[in-house]
Amino acid sequence: MAERTIRLKIKRQAGPEAEARWEEFEVPYHAGMNVISAMMEIALRPVTKEGTATTPVVYDSNCLEEICGSCAMVINGRARMACSALIDKLDQPVKIEPLTKFPVVRDLAVDRGVLFENLKKLKAWIPLDGTYDLGTGPRMGQKVQEERYPLSNCISCTCCMEACPQFNDKTNFVGAAAISQVALFNDHPTGAMLKEERLRALMGDGGVHECGYAQNCVEVCPKGIPLTRSISRVAGQVMIQSIKDLFGT
Ligand code: SF4
Ligand code: SF4
Ligand code: FES
Repeated sequence: MAERTIRLKIKRQAGPEAEARWEEFEVPYHAGMNVISAMMEIALRPVTKEGTATTPVVYDSNCLEEICGSCAMVINGRARMACSALIDKLDQPVKIEPLTKFPVVRDLAVDRGVLFENLKKLKAWIPLDGTYDLGTGPRMGQKVQEERYPLSNCISCTCCMEACPQFNDKTNFVGAAAISQVALFNDHPTGAMLKEERLRALMGDGGVHECGYAQNCVEVCPKGIPLTRSISRVAGQVMIQSIKDLFGT
């Protein structure tokens, strides 16, 4: 009996300035395989469906269990993690492209540095200088813990930014992930020290008011983070902060 195979159609690009092209592959099927293991098959024998020798496909990945956030790509038209995209659940040929909102480094590897720049702009961290022992942290109520925990699951994959109509090269919108981290750190007893700075950073160009509440972000987030709830909460905090600033209180 002939070996069962799967078909893949992958967008390739040799470098940031190179022209993109499509290549098709037919690789052996294994039970339970995902998009990363399919690309590993290509790496074992980098030959197109037509029999032309090519190079292994370049992509980012690490944990292979939807934790590191590095393997985001567009699979059959949807931004998602390649390591959790099971071949059995995908229409074939499986069409694989790099994320479209970020500069291509090579093939499916993109530069998602903008997310980290946005997190820096919004001071999305707990301010600790690490020079002395602060002892145990402040206690948090159960309700706050339960609200914060899902937000802490963000893996910085940028799927929410890829799917967001407001995040594009014509706007400076910071995107759902960074705003959700503001919600996370503003609710932390120590993180709240920077709350006003975070909110002011979200008042101007690219700020929270640029969200159109299209909810695409929530639909694609692999960790099921309640992003529009975070955005609404932060938008409310920004409004209160603007009023306080206006009256100098
Ligand atoms: S709700 Fe819509 S506009 Fe707002 S961040 Fe999510 S996808 Fe973007
Ligand atoms: S909020 Fe969700 S989709 Fe956005 S970067 Fe974090 S894990 Fe990824
Ligand atoms: S390899 Fe880490 S999330 Fe996919």
